[in-house]
Amino acid sequence: MAKINVSMELNGKTVSAEVEPRTLLIHYLRENLNVTGPHIGCDTSHCGACTVDVDGKSVKSCTIFAVQAAGAEVLTIEGMAGADGKLHVLQEAFREMHGLQCGFCTPGMLMSSVEFTKRHPNPTEAAVRHWLEGNLCRCTGYQNIVNSVLRGTAAMHAEQGA
Ligand code: FES
Ligand code: FES
Repeated sequence: MAKINVSMELNGKTVSAEVEPRTLLIHYLRENLNVTGPHIGCDTSHCGACTVDVDGKSVKSCTIFAVQAAGAEVLTIEGMAGADGKLHVLQEAFREMHGLQCGFCTPGMLMSSVEFTKRHPNPTEAAVRHWLEGNLCRCTGYQNIVNSVLRGTAAMHAEQGA
């Protein structure tokens, strides 16, 4: 099949690769660009481990073609920490609140939460649980993930208001 050039802003840098038009965004990231933070945890679009942020919206990267993200600003877990290595406040909240065990789901949980924190400055626990329905975790029982998102959201808005 003929290949096409797909380029985008990935974690603040312009990237491009020649791919078949049918290439999913998750495969473009992992196989063409060696960006392996977004995980593949299912083949049914249920687990959310592949979630990335595309132009400010959390997207399961196994559900869109790479070409659909051409020209977009894409953020993955690799782009969350600052250039100096300082963790993003959401990452710090997951660390503090023990929001992970094996860590497989964590990149997807965090990338889903980025959009959530922008939309819900003062969320309820129920709102967090509802938002994360598309992200599965086999280890934690979810409570610490929910606590992490609540802590991270509060910290983000406190930081912005400071
Ligand atoms: S790999 Fe499971 S939802 Fe994308
Ligand atoms: S921490 Fe293991 S799957 Fe969520």
